[in-house]
Amino acid sequence: MGKKILVTGGAGFIGSNFIRLILSRRKPETEIVNLDSLTYAADLRSLKDFAKDPRYSFIKGDICDSALVDKLARDCDWIVNFAAETHVDNSISAPEDFMKTNVLGTHVLLKSALRHGVSKFLQVSTDEVYGSIDRGRFAEKSVLSPSSPYSASKAGAEHIVFAYHQTFGMPVLVTRSSNNFGPFQHPEKLIPKIITHAARGKKIPIYARGLNRRDWIMVEDNCRGIETVLLKGKAGEAYNIGAGNEHSNLSVVKMILKKMGRPESLMQFVKDRPGHDFRYAVDTKKVRGLGWRPKASFGRALDYTVDWYLQNEWWWKSKGSSS
Ligand SMILES: NC(=O)c1ccc[n+]([C@@H]2O[C@H](COP(=O)([O-])OP(=O)(O)OC[C@H]3O[C@@H](n4cnc5c(N)ncnc54)[C@H](O)[C@@H]3O)[C@@H](O)[C@H]2O)c1
Repeated sequence: MGKKILVTGGAGFIGSNFIRLILSRRKPETEIVNLDSLTYAADLRSLKDFAKDPRYSFIKGDICDSALVDKLARDCDWIVNFAAETHVDNSISAPEDFMKTNVLGTHVLLKSALRHGVSKFLQVSTDEVYGSIDRGRFAEKSVLSPSSPYSASKAGAEHIVFAYHQTFGMPVLVTRSSNNFGPFQHPEKLIPKIITHAARGKKIPIYARGLNRRDWIMVEDNCRGIETVLLKGKAGEAYNIGAGNEHSNLSVVKMILKKMGRPESLMQFVKDRPGHDFRYAVDTKKVRGLGWRPKASFGRALDYTVDWYLQNEWWWKSKGSSS
């Protein structure tokens, strides 16, 4: 890659996996600066295998801190923005932080990127910006119709990103991926929540009747997708990233319980989340046109993830998971 990349939110789930992937490419001239404010969702222990790599450095700081961001943007070629508040449930109980980090923080990054002529700005967005779809799949040109304060803040950020392209000619890229799973995901999120609750014999809360459908992607596949868009994407464009592993939440819970040899009596149906999108599904022709394909099979990736959590209790046992 031969570039100095400012990665924001790199102490979180996808960001840490992305940095690991880029460093594994063994390009001696690649440098990564990870800017992360270390919210509850971050964990520096997720980065310990590459923390001493000379091509990597960490800075604790907030993407809303314009002076700090400006200093870092002056000195980098590309910016990849993962930093965000990401838990939908929290966006319902306390939306302010989502607006601040996801919307204003993205703007702080864009302003400095423009000022210092950063040559690529990749905004990591989500398929949740499209809202729910009963049948078919969303393509990149579909209308954004977010339902939760989380997805609305991500859609807001995207609009500002594209406005910087239209108005100032900023070379921006956007990825919209489906639900990720894999190592180092906070146990507040569905798949690690199921595994960690089942491991402790705790009840697993399932919204409504568990029929809501999600399209799951192994985090490494998404990270390779983000890398592909960063290297080959066309400025000013958005790219959906998904692996076509569509399952109801209930069937994901049952699959994991079966793999772990735990009883279905651990399932506990709870009142639905307000504004809960029923189904997400994205068309991924465009990113496949850049040469990307998902590699992981859902079943094997899920086995791997279950084993990872069971073998790495040190990583998750002190973390809370909502309910
Ligand atoms: N997890 C998914 O399934 C998924 C799917 C699609 C898109 N995304 C997007 O991918 C990105 C990463 O998601 P994730 O699941 O890794 O999230 P995460 O919650 O695991 O990590 C977010 C990281 O951002 C950091 N952060 C939060 N506010 C910050 C601020 N103001 N300044 C600096 N750092 C800050 C946190 O400390 C944390 O390390 C997000 O932008 C999210 O919207 C996630």
